[in-house]
Amino acid sequence: MKGMLSPSLMCADMLNLQSEIAALDNLGVDYVHLDFMDNKFVPNITLDVSLIKSVKSVLKNMKRDIHIMAYEPQQFFDKMDIGDSDIVSVHFEACNDVHSVISEIKSRGAKAFLAISPDTSADVLNNYLDEIDGVLVMTVYPGFAGQPIAEGSFDKIKQVRNIIDDSHKNLILEVDGHVSWDLCQKMRECGADLFVAGSSSVYCGKMDLETAVDMMMKLIK
Ligand code: DX5
Ligand code: ZN
Repeated sequence: MKGMLSPSLMCADMLNLQSEIAALDNLGVDYVHLDFMDNKFVPNITLDVSLIKSVKSVLKNMKRDIHIMAYEPQQFFDKMDIGDSDIVSVHFEACNDVHSVISEIKSRGAKAFLAISPDTSADVLNNYLDEIDGVLVMTVYPGFAGQPIAEGSFDKIKQVRNIIDDSHKNLILEVDGHVSWDLCQKMRECGADLFVAGSSSVYCGKMDLETAVDMMMKLIK
């Protein structure tokens, strides 16, 4: 599967989001990563549901890659207008009934990804391989941009890649957190397909967006 990029909007210029989204949309980026946090599952609040919903109306090429870091995420699906072509990642650690949340996402025509935090074993995925469309491997502890990569992240990516390959399911392996210039290729070698690019790469502030996206696309292809 070709490497795909999903820049993390919470790392963009929050005072100019509409132009930031339009700029990404014009650069041939596959997805835009939209982090939602409830200040309970993680001690932070970022993009709100109405923004996540309104992003849908302005996208011309990119698709939404929605990462819900909240307990019982299904309560937000209507407000986010979850629908086809969306990726929706929900946390294994935040759902009472993962099976029903996954089927709720799929009933809306969206792709259901199961997100696992660094301290959650990849083995939990085995119960959901027939239902999910992908896995979001958190390579930092969820909640904040700018963190160092979590210990054991490369082994975790390899482990999830092996679980997916052994299942013979065509699942997407997404990585999120400290996907940096110098580590993204190693993540790719370990088996990642979809890369959340935040303050460690595309939004590092050292170059213009077009140059950064172009560099990242070349590194992960
Ligand atoms: C963290 C978020 C990530 C984060 C990535 O919980 O899910 O999307 O913004 O940004 P960096 O590259 O700074 O880790
Ligand atoms: Zn995220």
